[in-house]
Formats: sequence, C-alpha cells, structure tokens
Amino acid sequence: MELDQEFYADPHPTYRAIKAQGNRPTPIVLRTGMAYLPPGLRGWLVTAYQDVEFVLRDPRFRKSIDEAMPLFAAGTGREGGGDRSSLLYDNMANNDPPKHTRLRKPLNATFTARAVATKRRDMRRVATETLDALAGRDTFDLVQDFAFPFSIAVICDTLGVPREDRGTFHSWVQTITGAADHETLRRDTGLMAQYLRDLIGRKRAGTADDVLTQLATSLAEDEAVAQAYALLAAGYETTANLIVTGFLTLERNPEQKRRLWSDPSLVPGAVEEMLRHQSPFNLSLYRYVTEDVEVGGVEIPAGAIVFLSFAAANRDEHRFADPDAFDITTPRREHLAFGGGIHNCIGKHLARLEAEVAFDALVRRCPGLSVVTPADRFVWKASPTFRGLKNLAVGPGPRD
Ligand code: HEM
Repeated sequence: MELDQEFYADPHPTYRAIKAQGNRPTPIVLRTGMAYLPPGLRGWLVTAYQDVEFVLRDPRFRKSIDEAMPLFAAGTGREGGGDRSSLLYDNMANNDPPKHTRLRKPLNATFTARAVATKRRDMRRVATETLDALAGRDTFDLVQDFAFPFSIAVICDTLGVPREDRGTFHSWVQTITGAADHETLRRDTGLMAQYLRDLIGRKRAGTADDVLTQLATSLAEDEAVAQAYALLAAGYETTANLIVTGFLTLERNPEQKRRLWSDPSLVPGAVEEMLRHQSPFNLSLYRYVTEDVEVGGVEIPAGAIVFLSFAAANRDEHRFADPDAFDITTPRREHLAFGGGIHNCIGKHLARLEAEVAFDALVRRCPGLSVVTPADRFVWKASPTFRGLKNLAVGPGPRD
C-alpha cells in the first residue's frame, strides 16, 4: 500500500480499507519523506488500537537512530537511505534507554501538569494579544494568523527562544517536517543546528530560568542542541494543527459547535475529543524491530521499519463505540493521540492547556466564527506525521 498526498489529506479511507481486511499490520511504502525518512521507504503500518499499544510497550521495537539508518537504506533499496547527517535528530525521540532516559528524565519535572498550569495566565495573555491584532477583520487565516503565532509564542516563552526569531526557525522547521528535497533539507538542518548552537552558547553564559538554559548547563553541546530541536520542532506545530483541525471538526458538527460556543465550560472535554477524533500526530515516528515479532496475527520480520497509526487506533471500533462520531460532551480520554510507553509525549499537558486557552479565547471573542475556505481548496501538509492544513480562512474576526 502506498501512502501519498491523498493519504496525508485524509488518511481515514485508507484506514477503513485496512479495517475491512481485518485491521492487521500492513506493508506500506512512504511516497513522501520527512526529515531523515527517505521517500520510497518501505515499512509496516500498525493500525489496531491493541496492536499499537502492544508495540508502544514492547522493548523489541526500538528507535536508536544509528541502528535505524542502515535499515532505511535497506528499506528503500537505495544507497544512502535516511539522512543522518544532522546531529539534530540524535534526540530523545530517536534513542532507546539508557540514553533516552538520561536525556528525558531531567525535563520531566518541567512538563508535569502542575508545572504547566502555572503558565495559564501568560498563555491567556498571548491568546488575547493574538486576537487583538485581528480585531475588526472580516476574515483571517486561522492557521497563519492565530494558531501558529499563538503556539509559537508559547513554546518560545517556555523554552527561552527569542520570539523575534520565529520567522527564521519556523521556515526551517517547516522544511524539516515537510516534504523537502534533499538539498533544501540539508541546508535547513544546517542552519537550524547553527542557530541553536549559538543560542545554547549564549544560554550557557546566562542565568535565565528557562528550558534552554537548563539544557545548556546540564548536557554536552551537541546533545543540548538536539534536545532543543526536538522540543521546538515537536512543540508547536502539532498544537497549532489541533486547534485548526479541531475547529474544522466543530464546523462539520454544527450542533457540537453551537453547544461549545454557548458553554465554554465544555472546552476541556472538547479538546480531548478533538485529540482523539483528529489525532494531529497521524503516524508515529519510526521504530524498527530487532527480531521477528508477531503483531495482531502477522509476523513482522527482524529489521523491519514500523509505523504506528495513532489516528487509526483512535477510531478503532473495538476500543471506541461509534468511533467516527464526534461528541464533546462525552470525550473518550483513553485515546493514543499522545502515544504511550516510554516515548509518550512529554509536552502533552502543555499542549492540552494551550488548546484549552485557545478555544476559550475563540469562543469568548469570536461569537460568529465560521470557516470561509471551501473544502475543495484545502491544502494539507505533505507529511506522514504532522497532519495539518496550510491555511484556513475563517471569519468574522473578534469584534473588540
Ligand atoms: C496536540 C499537540 C501534540 C500532540 C498530538 C503530540 C503527540 C506526540 C506523540 C504521539 C508522540 C509520540 C511519538 C512516537 O512515539 O513515535 C510525541 C512525542 C513527543 N512530543 Fe508531542 N505532541 C504534541 C505537543 C507537544 C509539545 C507542546 C511538545 C513540547 C513541549 C512536544 C514534545 C514531544 C517530544 C520531545 C516527544 C518525544 C518524547 C520521547 O521520545 O520520549 N509535543 N508527541
């Protein structure tokens, strides 16, 4: 089965076809690459909720990037395979214990629900300022004028990245997480690494109370740069995509939207159901398997590359009754939108709070907000993992 732009725009027809065949692990070819994933990569796609959970918790499925690279080469049948040239990729997301534990553990305390809750007031201010800038507009772009500026400002403030640098790193992150050609990818990973190296160097000399200073003073320089990249790249686009696809889902379920707009206390439940229903992290990052392992009745051979579909698992009818339905009053919290096992999303509490603050602000400030862009003009990001729209015109903007 080939995964291409049609799949990235709407993966559910493919998932329904896999389900109709028994919802077992399926051999796939990734037509579009991302970062170190070469286009043409062959692997396995795991879609059933219980199989996804099984792989997340089984240590025979590993992530070490140095061991995965030769497998990428074998998986494409080409010389070279994935691009490991950038040190950015050698972060917690692409390592196994004990290195994964060493990189992740010092950051856990920064991202607990309690620690993150202290940021609510600052986040509200950012949301208010972002909407203030749109006051009186007939239409605005929910992606570029609200979701991205808001989530970028929050992650910058959390990490200690100067907000005025967003214009540069945002375009590099877009290249790295999208379908860029090899040369552009090399150029932008190089620019990103140099930018973060300079920033980390300045942090080391300072005394700021932020995450980058913590990384700069506790890790070797290359490790600090790679960890900073992981947090920055994973730390805003997914949240922005949740806000946008969440709003789109409300628009397609007008009764749910009406209820939310008339009762903002429903926002936390709505965010949880958006996470399940939309799953902004469609496919997981890669894993590879160290020996033959049976998953859902299918033997996945040693050395295979494996992707988990959080989006498919979150619509598995063996786990969720009527899984395609969207109901903000009965959110299904057992979803896997943030993954699971030791690599579960470190930013999940931050992301939830951000989405809550964003929707609370939209509900209170934009009473008549509706989608303006017709569905046949939607352009989806070409990425197996980050599912999001490039633009979404909505209106009217805030009145005051
Ligand atoms: C709605 C927003 C978000 C979603 C849906 C999401 C989803 C995920 C998922 C599914 C994974 C696991 C991937 C895998 O196992 O292959 C993950 C990992 C990760 N996420 Fe998030 N994420 C979100 C926001 C954030 C934010 C705000 C941050 C930054 C603070 C962040 C940082 C990370 C990092 C660093 C990892 C790797 C963790 C590890 O390997 O130990 N994410 N995320």
